[in-house]
Amino acid sequence: MEAMSEWTPDARELADLELLLSGAFAPLTGFLTSADVDEVVAHGRLADGTSWPDPITIALPESIQPGEQVTLRDPEGASVAVMTVRERDGHHAAGPVEALDAPAYGPFARLRRTPEDVRKELPDGETLAVTMRGPLDSPTLDDIAATAEELEAGILLLPLVFGESGPAVVRAALKASAALPGSSVVAVPLAPREDPEIDLELREHVARNYGATEHYAGPAPVVIPGPPHRRGLVVFFTGLSGSGKSTIARGLRDALLERGGRTVTYLDGDVVRRLLSAGLTFSREDRDHNIRRIGFVAAEVARHGGLAICAPIAPYAETRDEVRAMAEEVGADFLLVHISTPLEECERRDRKGLYAKARAGLIPEFTGVSDPYEEPEDAELTLDTTGMTVDRAVSAVLNLLTSGGWIR
Ligand code: ADX
Repeated sequence: MEAMSEWTPDARELADLELLLSGAFAPLTGFLTSADVDEVVAHGRLADGTSWPDPITIALPESIQPGEQVTLRDPEGASVAVMTVRERDGHHAAGPVEALDAPAYGPFARLRRTPEDVRKELPDGETLAVTMRGPLDSPTLDDIAATAEELEAGILLLPLVFGESGPAVVRAALKASAALPGSSVVAVPLAPREDPEIDLELREHVARNYGATEHYAGPAPVVIPGPPHRRGLVVFFTGLSGSGKSTIARGLRDALLERGGRTVTYLDGDVVRRLLSAGLTFSREDRDHNIRRIGFVAAEVARHGGLAICAPIAPYAETRDEVRAMAEEVGADFLLVHISTPLEECERRDRKGLYAKARAGLIPEFTGVSDPYEEPEDAELTLDTTGMTVDRAVSAVLNLLTSGGWIR
């Protein structure tokens, strides 16, 4: 028998999957078909006429065909569900999902319960569910208490946990619960929807499934991102071997350390390859792994407000984009600095003698010689170091950081 395909969905798809499995997205039991998606988008209904606000979809690799079953895993490798693929429409696949292990990925497993479980414990009578994406101030708490009293309703607090703000929302819900006697807290992994109306409708559906007779939408949090000099930052250099990336990156690190005021982690391409990425080759696949590893570490540094400097070749645009997304996902900023020194100049310098070897056919897949380098089109700064001193190049990067407020 052929082994079952497996796939790890992205964070948002996993959150939707968990809600499909728990019954929080009832009556849905799987990812929507294109007929359903079309109706939902056009009229806010499923193809069978049931009201439903948002197309719940999943992208699967093209190799997984209708009729196949696929094991969906969380990033830690636990099998969350089996999906039976019924239809494909481009990237999207449709079909029912069936739970395997209880979802355990992500924080607050203790606070995530199925609607069925929660409904069983709700006191008889009305239930006022409060969906929250941020803290509730005291006028709002008073308002909720008054509404519940008027309706003679119990209170169910539903912190919507997704992404970086999850822990803060749970803390806010626990705090609100202490101020609202008899209330309970259930964490719901509902990713926010871009359209506020759809977001609200979806929250309402989920609240009803949890047994709510009334829904109170907690106010949208006013996100005030910290000032740039307190936010995490990833400065990502890309360019050919010998273009000057490492030299400028080191110069930048030293300049930042001299100034003080920011913690700096420097992830040099060659150093990373000796440690973090030891054993990887220069195939496209391994280069991508290498860049993702660098991106992962840089995003962790930035998550805690640090400044990470990376200086690999990173020849592929798509992978550089992934790293940008990883940084932005943790609320950090990302600056791509393209060291655009042309191949002829890099080859003329040939400090490590690698170009000569590559030309002699001794190093296969050498970037610029026998392997591609995709010029960035989205660099925040481009520097050709031909005839440029290191100091001037470092100043140019420092200017970028100063002008954006990342350093003062
Ligand atoms: S990347 O493509 O995965 O981003 P990385 O920056 O880690 O590359 O490593 C590049 C360094 O490895 C170069 O500066 C060079 O010293 C060395 N190297 C060895 N083989 C190759 C190759 N085939 N292509 C490019 N660089 C290579």
